[in-house]
Amino acid sequence: MTQPSQRQIFLNGEGDAWYERNCQSSPEQREQWQEQDPLARLLTELPLPRGSEVSVLEVGCGQGLRLLRMRQEFGWRVAGVDPSSAAVDAVASLGLKAHVATADILPLPDASVDLLIYGFCLYLCDRSDLFKIAAEAHRVLRPESWLAILDFWSPHQKVNPYHHRSGVFSYKDDLSAMFTWHPSYVITDHRLRHHVTRAHTDDPQEWVATTMLRRCDLSPSTSLG
Ligand SMILES: C[S@@+](CC[C@H](N)C(=O)[O-])C[C@H]1O[C@@H](n2cnc3c(N)ncnc32)[C@H](O)[C@@H]1O
Repeated sequence: MTQPSQRQIFLNGEGDAWYERNCQSSPEQREQWQEQDPLARLLTELPLPRGSEVSVLEVGCGQGLRLLRMRQEFGWRVAGVDPSSAAVDAVASLGLKAHVATADILPLPDASVDLLIYGFCLYLCDRSDLFKIAAEAHRVLRPESWLAILDFWSPHQKVNPYHHRSGVFSYKDDLSAMFTWHPSYVITDHRLRHHVTRAHTDDPQEWVATTMLRRCDLSPSTSLG
């Protein structure tokens, strides 16, 4: 019998299990999570206007606390996708849009997103899906847009068993390489920090990266000169 894909395992309940284990239920826990979000500073510094004309999608959004903060602080039009229907219900209960979906098939129109976020999502995705995932990101992003990745980081691929379920694996890679081979994508910020303390560390086992990429499609007028 063939093993189900990791994508299917998360759709079939592992996403809900993650949500049940990690849901921040009290207002104090939620506030603390939002204050400690490693992406918060990078998102604050983006040269994007405030207001609902800026469209944001978080893939693997969990309970949506990052999206909520962006909506409250910047007024951006935010939406999330996650394979967990429990997480999607939680996001909807915050008054935000969310869909049950996975990174390889995003339920959004072409060229509709100004900022796409993967927050600790890609480390759980099937490696055989990474080309599809990058192609979906490219499809939904506008020709001038931003892409933020927060995840475990290693210059060489590492694979570890996922502690909560046998047959599932977590990966460490240089995930920005999914995009930087393409002439339209450039890294504008990349920081490695300790997974728990957020301090500088020389221990590659502990590295977490926050990476911001700019997509800027070349046109004949921008490519000359
Ligand atoms: C570690 S949690 C991160 C949640 C949130 N983004 C955060 O930063 O706290 C990983 C999330 O990715 C979701 N996920 C797992 N596989 C996925 C896939 N193939 N596509 C999209 N999301 C996925 C899980 O259901 C879970 O909510």
